Amino acid sequence: MAQPQAGTGTSRRAFLRNVGLTGGAGAMFATMGALGLAPTAQAAQREQPFRAPQSGDFTLSGRGAAKVVIVGGGIAGLAAAYELGKAGYDCTVLEARDRTGGRNFTVRGGDSTTDLNGNKQTARFSDGEYMNAGPARLPQWMVTLDYCRELGVPVEVFTNTNADAYIFNESAGMTKPMRYRTAKADVYGYVSEFLAKATDKGALDAQLTTADQERLIEFLKDFGELGDKLDYEGGPRRGYTTVPAAAGTPGVLLGDVPSASEVFATGVGRYFSFEFEFDQAMLMFQPVGGMDRIPKALTKAIGEHRVRTGAAVTKITDRGDGVTVTYTQGGRTHTVDADYCIAATPPNILAKVPHNLGSGVQSALEAITPQSAGKIGLEYKSRWWELDHHIYGGITETDLDVSHIWHPSYGYHGERGLMIGYYNYDEDADSYAALTPKEREKRAVAAGVKIYGEKYRTELASSFSHHWRQTPYLEAAWHDTPDGPDHPRYKPLNEPTGRVYFAGDWLSYTDAWQHGAFMSARKAVTALHARVLAS
Ligand code: FAD
Ligand code: ALA
Repeated sequence: MAQPQAGTGTSRRAFLRNVGLTGGAGAMFATMGALGLAPTAQAAQREQPFRAPQSGDFTLSGRGAAKVVIVGGGIAGLAAAYELGKAGYDCTVLEARDRTGGRNFTVRGGDSTTDLNGNKQTARFSDGEYMNAGPARLPQWMVTLDYCRELGVPVEVFTNTNADAYIFNESAGMTKPMRYRTAKADVYGYVSEFLAKATDKGALDAQLTTADQERLIEFLKDFGELGDKLDYEGGPRRGYTTVPAAAGTPGVLLGDVPSASEVFATGVGRYFSFEFEFDQAMLMFQPVGGMDRIPKALTKAIGEHRVRTGAAVTKITDRGDGVTVTYTQGGRTHTVDADYCIAATPPNILAKVPHNLGSGVQSALEAITPQSAGKIGLEYKSRWWELDHHIYGGITETDLDVSHIWHPSYGYHGERGLMIGYYNYDEDADSYAALTPKEREKRAVAAGVKIYGEKYRTELASSFSHHWRQTPYLEAAWHDTPDGPDHPRYKPLNEPTGRVYFAGDWLSYTDAWQHGAFMSARKAVTALHARVLAS
């Protein structure tokens, strides 16, 4: 007979009794919880409604009683309804698509889309696998994380930079990928060598004192791993072909160190400044289970009865003493009368909606131009990038038309996994968008095989691609706002026009970030609320 597992049958009861005797009832209860016999404090907490340890830093003070219709249920529209709702307003959100979130769109198995070219796709991803087709990463300083905290959306680290991910510049003649760590060691090494030697020879005598030159050389020796003669000769930072192990195996350093000329010819250094950017530096975060946890939580907090999906707005009329918004839903035309309206659709879409808000509004909307981006999710039957390449999350950079290849920052060591096979912009995105989904898959896989080998093809289970210029009611990934959002041309959008306010990431200095959508919504509701309180 098989032995009972530890913690089952008689031995389990005896174990619990012992814990009770030595640790008291609290310890026994906790232990029972850990064994799955009693609710743990954590499990009990999960059954309570979530209460944020600290809410966001934004509150409308004072109560308003006006009725507000919000056009667009993306992050900006939902944030506006959420904040106004907390201050007592009666809000209705009209969203044209069959789900809220707008560009915040997470694709899971069973999800279907039809793009403006007529391509219909249904994702066949396995349970637990998902692809963030739009937003995917959150810097720590952005307000999006505050909303995650306030709404109880759990977050985890998103790996934006990984020393073990690859760089592959085919046009520079690279025939195989190079690890980030190797590329950095070589580029930083040679840059340090040249600067240190130039300093040593007096090239910076006019700029730096002797003492400062010595400090600079000390820094460069460390930064570039230079020898005593200020030469870069490679070293462990580049990596190993045999990694260090037990006594007798000190490790074998990675091949020959290329010359400076060979290193600079690869162009690998062009990717290094990415991680210095204010909005791309590690650590970064993602909601556990998919980015759409944010709009889902917002929608729930607003109240689902206040959000009408499949409701496409066809006209906005400012009547002077109120606003009438006309929309179609299920083939029928309806209207909503409200005291105020917040228009939170993309500008390129709003420009096509008839209104009586004047030519200033229309020409401002038309000045802002939509931009392209696309992604393909590739689900694999195994996590070969972890097993064979030892890459856990992070991004491989290429000069191929797939641009960026993302390794998943979730599900490590699981059976399957989902890579982003391309995340590209502009002409590259447009050229993939012009293909059928099957052709996109074929082209993306052919590019990936050059970097990772045949498993990129043979382990593939299914794919799903999404292109934002071809997405109904959005028709853009993000927008180009000539001269910036504070140019006088955009005054009719930054200030209310009559009883209509505007919101969206395109009216912020962080376009293409949910932070911009949240902040512009805060700006609009603050102005609206001040007006209501003053009236
Ligand atoms: P939208 O999401 O565009 O919402 C507008 C809403 O209006 C939509 O729901 C639309 O269906 C609706 N609508 C349109 N017309 C009508 C109509 N006639 N009637 C009713 N409703 C209508 N942000 C991050 O924070 N992190 C990232 O990593 C990140 N990466 C991104 C990557 C990609 C590929 C893309 C496309 C975006 C990314 N973003 C990222 C940006 C982020 O998605 C946006 O900033 C944010 O979602 C914009 O929200 P919004 O409410 O301003 O606009
Ligand atoms: N903010 C978008 C991203 O990080 C463009 O991918």
